[in-house]
Amino acid sequence: MQQYTRGLAEVGASVYGVGDSPAAALPGSLKKHLDDYLQVPRLLDENDVLARVHAWLRGREVDRVLANWEVLVVTAARLRERLGLPGMSLDTVNGFRDKELMKERVRAAGLRVPRSERVTTATETRAAASRIGYPLVLKPISGAGSADTYRVDSAAELERVLAKMHHVGEASCEEFIEGEEFTYDTVCVGGVPAFENVAQYLPKPLIARSNEWVSPVIVTVRDLAQEKLAGGLALGRKVLGALGMGDGFTHMEWFRKPDGEVVFGEIGCRPGGAHLVHQMNYTCDIDLFREWARAACWGRFEAPTARKYNAAIIFKRAKGQGRITRIDGLREFMRRYGELVVEQHLLPVGAHRRDWKQTLLSDGHILLRHPDWNTACELASIAATQITLYAE
Ligand SMILES: Nc1ncnc2c1ncn2[C@@H]1O[C@H](COP(=O)(O)OP(=O)(O)OP(=O)(O)O)[C@@H](O)[C@H]1O
Ligand SMILES: [Mg+2]
Repeated sequence: MQQYTRGLAEVGASVYGVGDSPAAALPGSLKKHLDDYLQVPRLLDENDVLARVHAWLRGREVDRVLANWEVLVVTAARLRERLGLPGMSLDTVNGFRDKELMKERVRAAGLRVPRSERVTTATETRAAASRIGYPLVLKPISGAGSADTYRVDSAAELERVLAKMHHVGEASCEEFIEGEEFTYDTVCVGGVPAFENVAQYLPKPLIARSNEWVSPVIVTVRDLAQEKLAGGLALGRKVLGALGMGDGFTHMEWFRKPDGEVVFGEIGCRPGGAHLVHQMNYTCDIDLFREWARAACWGRFEAPTARKYNAAIIFKRAKGQGRITRIDGLREFMRRYGELVVEQHLLPVGAHRRDWKQTLLSDGHILLRHPDWNTACELASIAATQITLYAE
């Protein structure tokens, strides 16, 4: 969010920031790009935030209300409606936030979406499961970060999963799609992508999120013209139309089945997390923080979109609990491949482990890039398997 603020200021916007940190705690590098700042006590208390921001903005001229964090896109849309500002309506944004509404709209456009039903009780879930069949996926309607998301292979397993989902009010019960999983990311102007990106998940997020020993890898694909991606790109562009995308970032996920069929997964009207924007920047040597701001403020995108590299990010998870005690294999890796590494942000020895269930960032990452796809993937695999952090 600090980088987006910087981008907005750089394209000439006066930025009024809203957050839950005290103004005094904001870093100087951020403060210099803010014209004013409002601290709210609870950023996710939508009505309270709307009332406070509305009162704070009284008497000022505001042109845009923007949010790039999934849980705030609806708040921003409501504020736009209240202030009579241009931008995506509440109804449009709901189509990017509510996973059933999203699939209904994408399905209605004739696109391939997993069979799914909205469920609110265990009884409804059992009934939906009998119609959809196994394997299936059960996940929260407005989830993020694969939280409370389960693959279910049988009725017996469904009972075990239901017992863990009491705190989830509304869920999607969905046909399980077997295949490779990719992203489709854009910066749009008036719903038309000015910038496009595809990245592949290795392995699929649900597997990476269920197994601590996995070092999740995400690789942006340099060559978007290859035949293998044509279906996914076409799907992505049609989804933007079906959901009435306006200006700004989108982050979609899609599957490619072994028979080549492409299937919609989900989409948000905000950038992908876990450093994906940095990864896309390294792919093209551009600054999407600033170009997003230009698109959102002025309806223009001026950066070159030629793709130079496949950029791979490798997230590491330490073995053991507590503080990092040693890192094996890093020095050797950097000696051999350091020239291709653009970021090395592993937690240092002595730092406390992060909660890998809470953040994909886990215990740090390495970001590398190479023009050749196979080489980029091989190097990512070496970093994933031959660098080990210990906390024991
Ligand atoms: N119908 C499906 N078939 C196969 N796998 C699925 C399906 N739905 C979800 N998954 C798996 O579960 C993961 C998380 O699901 P989804 O992306 O819908 O939720 P999310 O919590 O918003 O994810 P995130 O925020 O991590 O992108 C997907 O990335 C995918 O690996
Ligand atoms: Mg997802």
